[in-house]
Amino acid sequence: MVAQKVPFAIEVPDRAPKQRYYDPDFFALEAEQLWSRTWQMACRLEEIPQPGDYVTYEILDQSVIVLRGDDGEVRAFENTCRHRGVRLVEGPGVCEQQFTCSFHGWCYGRDGANTRIPMRKSFDLHNLEAGDTDLRPVRCERWGACAWINLDDAAPPLRESIEPAATILDAWDVETLRTEWWYACRLPVNWKLAEQAFQEQYHVVQSHPQLVIPGMRYGAQGATFDPRAFVDAEIQYLRTMSDGMAGMVHASDVKVAEGLRDIDLPADADEAAAIWNRTLNDAVVAAHRAEGHPIPDLNELDRTGKNEPMGYCFPHYFVLPMYSSASSYRFRPLGPEETLMEIWSLTRFPEGADRPKPTPPEVWECDDERWPPIPAQDFSNLPRQQLGLHNRGFEYMRLSERAEGHLSNMERTIDGFLAGRTHEELAPALREVNVNPLVRPIVELDL
Ligand code: FES
Ligand SMILES: [Fe+2]
Repeated sequence: MVAQKVPFAIEVPDRAPKQRYYDPDFFALEAEQLWSRTWQMACRLEEIPQPGDYVTYEILDQSVIVLRGDDGEVRAFENTCRHRGVRLVEGPGVCEQQFTCSFHGWCYGRDGANTRIPMRKSFDLHNLEAGDTDLRPVRCERWGACAWINLDDAAPPLRESIEPAATILDAWDVETLRTEWWYACRLPVNWKLAEQAFQEQYHVVQSHPQLVIPGMRYGAQGATFDPRAFVDAEIQYLRTMSDGMAGMVHASDVKVAEGLRDIDLPADADEAAAIWNRTLNDAVVAAHRAEGHPIPDLNELDRTGKNEPMGYCFPHYFVLPMYSSASSYRFRPLGPEETLMEIWSLTRFPEGADRPKPTPPEVWECDDERWPPIPAQDFSNLPRQQLGLHNRGFEYMRLSERAEGHLSNMERTIDGFLAGRTHEELAPALREVNVNPLVRPIVELDL
């Protein structure tokens, strides 16, 4: 396929033209070439535990029904009646026997098959061909306790599109996490701005000063290493993260850390940090196993290089594991300068525990005072960033090659999609862009 020219493409890898974040034509091209061809996290499986349970997943003007079938399989269908196109349902809900269209009463079973057409004989046969009146299936796969959809029948399987994040998160047993809470935010910014605000650590010192704790090994200056002060600082950091996110570092893990406060550590900073980490990992694992929670050996993950703080699945989903638990994020464009962002706080429960079905949250504005402190700080910058981009004198974002490399990698991967590259051509870039964004420099993408 001949690649088409992308407007406002990334020509210099560490410079992102501002129009990418508000231009309506760029946004339309994303709808046509990116959102129509990528795997998207459509719902958590715990939203649809029983046969007949369904949700609807909306991406731009497309709506998809994701449904648990009688055989336990999860299937997806386009949410549109095959007669005259009425949107069938607004999820979530339970499909008792069948979906009935509210306009003329066409019906569809839980497998999507058409089960009823009133006055069938009034149609010419060519409008009733076998299969052609069933709900149109949409590609659907499961991974990571979520159902994923792809509007492109030619796309490669999900797993191939989300490596190496899938392997990293599988090792950490992401599958067994369950929702503790689920929040949603409407942000008056482009979806890429919103997402990227959570994919670099460069902003932490200025935006989240409470996370810069004197005495932590990375912040210690000059003074001789004091193991007591080090442990106090580590625990303070964990508690500040936990309170700041209302999760991620789960309160129960902070409590485990508190219980280790009197640990004996050597006077060498690196050695002390290593022992602290190992001990805390083991204590967290032991505490969860004692409660009957499935949890992998965190030190084993460290040894095999699989304990990473972010697993990213391009283009719109990621998980931030911390010890036993995690925050996870999903971003969806609502318009060139409007985004729906969702956060899940995930943690571990006894195997087979009865958990309430999570239901979609009320969407809060980004300045709602109910937001936990850390996202509130992130949200406070974003609307002003969107405004600042419009200034005439501002041309492009200048990205730090090492601290914001992922932003460039992500934008250039998007350009690959917008240029109409084939899935085969895009595969190498996906494997690069899905490497832990927090520590990623700008890399060659072979596009
Ligand atoms: S549009 Fe659905 S039955 Fe007519
Ligand atoms: Fe932040």
